[in-house]
Amino acid sequence: MSLKDFHTYQAKTTPNPVGLEVSKAKGSYIYDSKGKKYLDFVAGISACSLGHRHPRVIKAIKKQLDKYLHVMVYGEYVQKSSVDLCKKLASFLPKTLEVTFLTNSGTEAIEGAMKLAKRYTKRSKFIAAKNSYHGSTQGALSLLGVKSQKKGYGPLLPKVTFIDFNNNMDLIKINSDTAAVILETIQGGAGFIIPKLNYLQNVKKKCEEVGALLILDEIQPGIGRTGEMFAFQKYDIEPDILVIGKGLGGGLPIGAFCSSREKMEKFEYNPSLGHISTFGGNPVVSSAALSVLNTLENEKIINKISEKEKLIRLLLIHKKIKKINGTGLMLAIILESQEDAERLVNESMKRGLILFYLLWNKLAVRITPPLTITNKEIKKGCKIILNILDEMI
Ligand SMILES: Cc1ncc(COP(=O)(O)O)c(C=O)c1O
Repeated sequence: MSLKDFHTYQAKTTPNPVGLEVSKAKGSYIYDSKGKKYLDFVAGISACSLGHRHPRVIKAIKKQLDKYLHVMVYGEYVQKSSVDLCKKLASFLPKTLEVTFLTNSGTEAIEGAMKLAKRYTKRSKFIAAKNSYHGSTQGALSLLGVKSQKKGYGPLLPKVTFIDFNNNMDLIKINSDTAAVILETIQGGAGFIIPKLNYLQNVKKKCEEVGALLILDEIQPGIGRTGEMFAFQKYDIEPDILVIGKGLGGGLPIGAFCSSREKMEKFEYNPSLGHISTFGGNPVVSSAALSVLNTLENEKIINKISEKEKLIRLLLIHKKIKKINGTGLMLAIILESQEDAERLVNESMKRGLILFYLLWNKLAVRITPPLTITNKEIKKGCKIILNILDEMI
C-alpha cells in the first residue's frame, strides 16, 4: 500500500512521478518491492558516486553511529569526521580553495557561496548563465536561467544578469558592479554542455580585471564524475569559490563550498555568525563523505572513468542517437524528439534499466551511472538501450 500512501501523503513535484517502490539497493542495482532488479544508469541524479551502499561507506557510517550523532551546531565543536573531511578536500584542491564550509545540500551551499561573494566584494550583482540550474531556494532560484521556471515566485533577487554559456562576446556584461559570476563547470540541465576551449579562462580573466569572483557550481560534475576529482581541473582554471554536493555524500545529504581562508573569514566578523547551520558538517554524513573520497583515491576509481566513457560512446552508435553530450560518466544521449526520449526512458524501466531526463533539454536522456559501474554492466545497459532504439525505427 505504500504507493497509494505515496500519492496521498507525500508532496509531489510532477503529476506523474516514476513511482518505483524501492525495497533495497546494492552496487549498481535497485530492487523493487516485487524483487525486480534494475540496473541504475542514473545514480540518484549523479549522487551515488560509489553506487548503492558501498561497503566502505556503510562501514564508516556504522563506526560513526557507534560514537556520536549530532552534538552541536555547525562549526563550534571539533568533530573529527568533519575536520578530516575538510582536510581531505583541501588535499585535492589548490591553496586558494583550502577552507570548506559544510552544508546539508547543494542548494544551501550555493546560498552560502552567494553570501560570501557579497560579503567579500561588498557588491550585490550576480551574473549567471542561461539554462543554468543552481537549486530551488529563492537565492539559487534567482540564478536559474530558465524564465518560465521562475513563474509565480517573483520578486526574486533583482540584480542578476544572464549570459550565454560559451559566448565570449557576452563577457562584456561582467563589470565592476559584479560580485560574482556563477557557472556550472559543465551545464547540467541544459544538456551536459561542456565549456569550449578557453571559455572558462576568459571568464576568469574578465572577473580578475573587474574584481568579481568566479563561483563554479560542481554539485553535479564534481567528485570524480568527469574523470578528474573536480571538473575545473580539466579546464586549467581555478574558481574563487567552488560549490560541491551530491556525489560527495555517498548517499547521504551534503553540500559544501570551498574558498580561501581570507575570504571564508568574512563570516566570522562584522557581524559574526555570517552563515550558520544546525546540521551542516553532521558527523555521520561527514564520515560517509570522507570514506567516498578515500575510496575514490585508494581504489583509483577516477582513473578508470575515461575508459568507461569510451566504452559507452563506442557501444551507443545508433541512427536514433544524434550525438552524445558531456564527458566522463556525465553523458547525455541526444535523440530526435521529446517523444523518443520519453519512450526510451519508459521502455528501459520495463526492461530493468533506469534512465532519466535532464531538467531543460527535453531531447536528452542522462547516463550518469555510479562511478563504480563495471564494463559488463555498461554493456548490459547499452544493449537494452540499443534494442529499444532498434524498435523505434
Ligand atoms: C548543478 C546543480 N546545482 C545545484 C543543485 C542543487 O543541489 P541540491 O539538490 O543538493 O540542493 C543541483 C541539483 O541537481 C545541481 O545539479
